[in-house]
Amino acid sequence: MTLKHQQAVQLGVNIDHIAVMRQARYTPYPDLVRAAQLAEDGGGDFITIHLREDRRHIVDADLPLLKNNIKTFLNLEIAATAEMQQIALALSPPKICLVPERRAELTTEGGLDAHKNLSLLRDFCAPFIAADIEVSLFLDPVSKQIDAAAAIGVAAVELHTGEYAADGNHLPLQNAASHAAAANLRVHAGHGLHLQNVATIANIPHIVELNIGHAIVARAVFVGLKQAVSEMATLLKNSPTTESN
Ligand code: PXP
Repeated sequence: MTLKHQQAVQLGVNIDHIAVMRQARYTPYPDLVRAAQLAEDGGGDFITIHLREDRRHIVDADLPLLKNNIKTFLNLEIAATAEMQQIALALSPPKICLVPERRAELTTEGGLDAHKNLSLLRDFCAPFIAADIEVSLFLDPVSKQIDAAAAIGVAAVELHTGEYAADGNHLPLQNAASHAAAANLRVHAGHGLHLQNVATIANIPHIVELNIGHAIVARAVFVGLKQAVSEMATLLKNSPTTESN
């Protein structure tokens, strides 16, 4: 595969956990826009948020406020429901990521089953693709899921790194990233990444973006948000990716 250029892996800073603190008391603070701006100041390349069906952290009013007050851009994570489709098309962020959602889960516990829901997802994604919004599917690092993403016609996949975060085995992600790149998909990854385990993933060929939230917000308790993002961004900047298309 010819390497056309090398660039650092991009960091999407997921600020959901800052909204978790706000919603715990239904206070107006901490200010999410200020948090997003600090994340940008620390070197975050864009801001990722997940509008959940139960609005447990990000709420509808956050969407336009963030969109209009950040200098990078929003990556909106949503479940593939009619309500979310309508909201996301109206907001029109440059990127969306489709994730599975179950009310009882603590966080997004597994990837989407794109293989099983291929025709449903193809219909769901069509208006986004027509509107030039980059769609990625959050998938377990499994070939048949990646093949389904290619068949659906999305631009990108986000590989679920939760299992790697638990067992330290990056080989399924490495194989899945190669498989996705061979299918001309952009390769993102995320979930459970922190300062100690991120470099292995950032160094996997073809991975061009990581979405990281929980560990950054946890670290921010001690060093502040800008510094916490900066520490993560620095690790990623030292991991040049090899994008082949
Ligand atoms: N990517 C996706 C699709 C997610 O759902 C999440 C969790 O909200 C993340 C990345 C970030 O995971 P973490 O908060 O563990 O860094």
